[in-house]
Amino acid sequence: MNSLLAAMAPSCTASSPALASTLPPGAYGSEELFEIESEKIFRSAWMPLCREEQVGEINSYYSIDLLGMALVVTRDRYGEVRVLSRTCRHRWMEIACGSGVAPALQCPYHLWTYAMDGHLVGAPEMQGVEDFCKEEIALQSYRHEIWQGFIFVNLDGQAEPLAPQLSGLDEYLELYDFGGYQTITPTDWGECAWDWKVMVDNFMECYHHMGPHRKSLESEYPAKLSYTDAGGEAFSLMWACQAGGYEATPPFLSPGAAGLPDELRHKLAIFIVYPLLQVVVGPGFMYWLKTLPLGPGRIQLQLDIAMSPAALAAPDLEARQKELIEAIVEIHKEDLDVCAAVQRAISGGAQGQGRLSLLEQPLWEFYQYLGRRLGLATDGLSADSKHVGQDLAMDERAISA
Ligand code: FES
Ligand SMILES: [Fe+2]
Repeated sequence: MNSLLAAMAPSCTASSPALASTLPPGAYGSEELFEIESEKIFRSAWMPLCREEQVGEINSYYSIDLLGMALVVTRDRYGEVRVLSRTCRHRWMEIACGSGVAPALQCPYHLWTYAMDGHLVGAPEMQGVEDFCKEEIALQSYRHEIWQGFIFVNLDGQAEPLAPQLSGLDEYLELYDFGGYQTITPTDWGECAWDWKVMVDNFMECYHHMGPHRKSLESEYPAKLSYTDAGGEAFSLMWACQAGGYEATPPFLSPGAAGLPDELRHKLAIFIVYPLLQVVVGPGFMYWLKTLPLGPGRIQLQLDIAMSPAALAAPDLEARQKELIEAIVEIHKEDLDVCAAVQRAISGGAQGQGRLSLLEQPLWEFYQYLGRRLGLATDGLSADSKHVGQDLAMDERAISA
């Protein structure tokens, strides 16, 4: 393991995007590395579970498995959101599955019943059992935080509060009326045979628009017009910019918030809140990837699609929803094909580390994040180097304009 971490260190400590390389292939499927990631990243960071509107009603619940742990997000009768274990306090049966609204969560094994705040409220045939006090029994509860409508869990309870780390991102999102975006549909992509880092690598660059998306995205959102914005230790942000001559049309770019500056009507924000919240936002829509790590080289993948308040209020909603979902699903399939192929090559013994284009600056930022979490680097992002990719991309746009 030490040799793999040592091999990762140069990529995770490269001092600028112009010096960036990929991680070594061995980082995408190592059992030992996954154990370290589970402890130093997944259990100690803020992990996204669902959106607030997915537990919008009193007594609603939403089940999700994370790192083998059966969790349920609930909204109790006072309107409070909770993140609870789904493991029964009697003999460990799962007390719920799926999502919905119910007066309580009842274990199907011996019918112990839990209120949505996690407390045991019913346990049949337990009279005569000594020292059994149901008021003292509750499902295990986990620390959560809600940011911009996303419900996150921090499993080890030790993470720094999330919202203050994302204030730089809030400034952009406010302009979109982002807090009011509503999920219109989840899409489930099942178990996928690639590492969570392959998914992040793919998501956080538009360089590949000219490859797998050459027919779907490259003309309107050319790779070379994408650029990385100022991020932070907790997030990275980039933009996919519309080429000249295109209108800001539905379903991606319109309709949007009334006060949205014209510039933002012609581009898409792509951001990651480390390690796993991956979001694309436009004036009319957003979608996010729920990448649930199952093990080295394996994830459970969902993609949830939402629309902006303006898009939800505009005429012909049904037709625009259909168009939005179809477009995202088609583009996403193009991404999944390359992710699967990359992991196959890695599993087949791929060697060597590739150099990164400046269009892939967010990958350099991602590896810096990994370096900090895995103890390979102690420095934060250098303010000077943060802007190198952006400046170069802007220069290029100025030249091509
Ligand atoms: S295991 Fe849940 S009631 Fe027995
Ligand atoms: Fe893509």
